[in-house]
Order: sequence, then structure tokens, then C-alpha cells
Amino acid sequence: MSTHSSVVIDEAVQTLRDGGLVAFPTETVYGLGADAKNPEAIQKIFTAKGRPSSHPVIVHLAAPEKFDQAVIDWTSLVSPWVRDLSEDALKLINAFWPGPLTLVFKKDKSVLNELTGGQDTVAIRAPAHPLAQELLRKFKGGVVAPSANRFGKISPTSAADVRSEFEGMLGLMILDGGDCEVGIESTILDLSSGDHAVLLRPGIITPSEIFTKTGIKVYQSGDIDQNKDAAALPRVSGSLRAHYAPTTPLRMYSAGRVLDALSEFPDIKSRVAVAVWDSDSSLSHEGHPSVHFEEVLIPSDCGTFASRLYRSLRDLDQQGWDLILFPEPPPGEEWDGVRDRLQRACFGSGPSSINHDNN
Ligand code: TXA
Ligand code: MG
Repeated sequence: MSTHSSVVIDEAVQTLRDGGLVAFPTETVYGLGADAKNPEAIQKIFTAKGRPSSHPVIVHLAAPEKFDQAVIDWTSLVSPWVRDLSEDALKLINAFWPGPLTLVFKKDKSVLNELTGGQDTVAIRAPAHPLAQELLRKFKGGVVAPSANRFGKISPTSAADVRSEFEGMLGLMILDGGDCEVGIESTILDLSSGDHAVLLRPGIITPSEIFTKTGIKVYQSGDIDQNKDAAALPRVSGSLRAHYAPTTPLRMYSAGRVLDALSEFPDIKSRVAVAVWDSDSSLSHEGHPSVHFEEVLIPSDCGTFASRLYRSLRDLDQQGWDLILFPEPPPGEEWDGVRDRLQRACFGSGPSSINHDNN
């Protein structure tokens, strides 16, 4: 893993203070950071990403320096950003921060509308990556950071990925922290209703893990009556049907049914990449007279799969396949995060932008 001298971190801190953008690693994906108190800096993020300004961004905070969990004072860190910090919120924070869990609160009035997309809530997380922590600690403030990709595209899990997403932005400062360990974006829980914790985006931290560690029951957004105003707002941009998408068509196949997935593409004669669980035997028995399959092994362990998913999609997208096929992830909550990302990637995939314009 790459490391940075403190001189480079200092330069990144200065860039943030000057209202510039800094891409930095987190344990989930790379983020494109700006000072959460600077409206012009936040605007630069939306412009760079091509992201609609109504889509809110997450505020990233440094974990306090002491790592003796018993004495970490999260309250004074989070309080300035939120209207109130419930007992449940503190339980969640103590159990999972720093780490890949984002919490949505009613916002303090000082929180800029530019970062909340005009909503009265704010999303906050404390990333676990040491480089992110060092940056945040030295900056001594909140840093807003969406994933460092163009809107609707695959999130970056390495510094080189960020570079290729923002090729035109020559001056963009990118801190290189190696490959992201988690590989998909943080789990998002909405605590803003004050009643229920509602899952807005599945991730590597699952509702049952949350229940086990805190006793807090997590509701799916479908379980809760949403009032109409709230439902009309794009609360989670990743909730658009098309997202995380490669330009090569991508589809999922159910076990043993690769040929069915092909029926949608009668003209494809060759160059089909088929991802296959590394625990499975090969596809060779599924012969097809005119289509050439190329197998790509993918990890059948859920955590490893998540950590390599975006890497695989990016690499396959570069290789000039006519079609990419992925197996449907197995049922089970621990697969919800990757299933969610794969479904959106399939929906948004392909060279045309028609799918994106539809949502
Ligand atoms: O793992 C992550 O969360 C990464 C790393 C960089 O920290 N960040 C990330 O940011 O995924 P982004 O902007 O790509 O996705 C954040 C999601 C968006 O879908 C946004 O709509 C949602 O969080 N979000 C932000 N503020 C919100 C709020 N107040 N209410 C509901 N959703 C919110
Ligand atoms: Mg994103």
C-alpha cells in the first residue's frame, strides 16, 4: 500500500482550506473531498462529477485520536452537525465507527444546504482508512466526499481509477492509499425520523450485524410509510435504478442458465465474458455453436467478492467484450450490498445513455 509523507498530507489539507478538491482513499471507495463549510468548494464537486445539485453528499469526520473505545468522545464531534443525537445513534456510532456505516440525522441549522441537497437532514460517517483519518484530523473539520467517479459510473477503488475518471482535471490532487478493502460504498441508515432506523443503502455492515451488536432493529425503507414530500426527493443517488454502470452491456444469469441471458442479444457472436464463481466447475459443458465464452473467475466469498466487484467491472469494461455476464449472487442478507450494486450496474450498462435519461 502506498503511503504519503506528512508534507503531502499538509499540502492536501492546504488545498481543502483553499477551497480545492482532494481525492482520498477510504476503506469503502475513494472519495472526492471538499471543505464541508465552503459552498463554492462543494459546488466544484457537483460540477466535477456531473451530479445534480439535489443529491446530498456525506460529511466525513475524523475519529478522535484515542482508540480506547470507552473514552472516545463522539458526542462533541458529531453534535455541531446534528439537531439531536439519540441514544440509539450513540450505540451505533460506538459499535461501528470508524467504519463503513453512514448515519442520516436531522441537520443542525449551520449545515450548508449545498451539501444536503436542500433537505433538512445530513449524512455523516467516520471512515476507517488511516490516510483518510490523518487527512481529516489535520484538516480539523468536516469534509464532504461523494465517491470519486462521474455521476452514474463505477466507483473507484484505487488512485488510478480516480485518475481515469477525472482525466481532464489535470490539477486534481489524489492521495494514494492503495486498493480499498471493502470495495462497495458504506451502509446508510436513516435515523432522522427519530423512531426507526431505516436502511437506505445496503453495504457490508448488515441489519443483522447491527442488531447483534446494538439490539437496534433496522427497517427496510419499504416497511415504513414515507410521506409524499420525502419520497419525491432523490435522497440516495445510488437509489436510481441505473448506477455504478460500465459502458459494456452487463447482465446477470441464474445458476446454469448462461444461454438464457444471451437470448436478449441475438446478434452477439463472440467476445462474451462470463464471470464464474471460483467454487464452481467450468462452464465448458454449456457449449454454444456460435458464441465464444471466456470465463473469468470471481470469488465466492461475499466479502472478497465485494472488495473486487468494481475492480472487475472496470477491468472487464476496458477489455472490449461485447457482453459481460455475472452470476446472480446467492440469497442472503450478506449479499444484499453487492446484489444491489450489480442490479444497478446492469440496468445502467451499455453504450447508450438512454437508460440514464430514464430515471
Ligand atoms: O462509502 C461511502 O459512503 C463513500 C465514501 C467516499 O465515503 N461515499 C459515497 O458517497 O458513497 P456518494 O455521494 O457516492 O453516496 C452517498 C449517498 C448518496 O446516494 C446520497 O444521496 C446519500 O448518500 N445521502 C447523502 N446525504 C443524505 C441525506 N441527508 N439523506 C439521505 N441520503 C443521503
Ligand atoms: Mg457514489
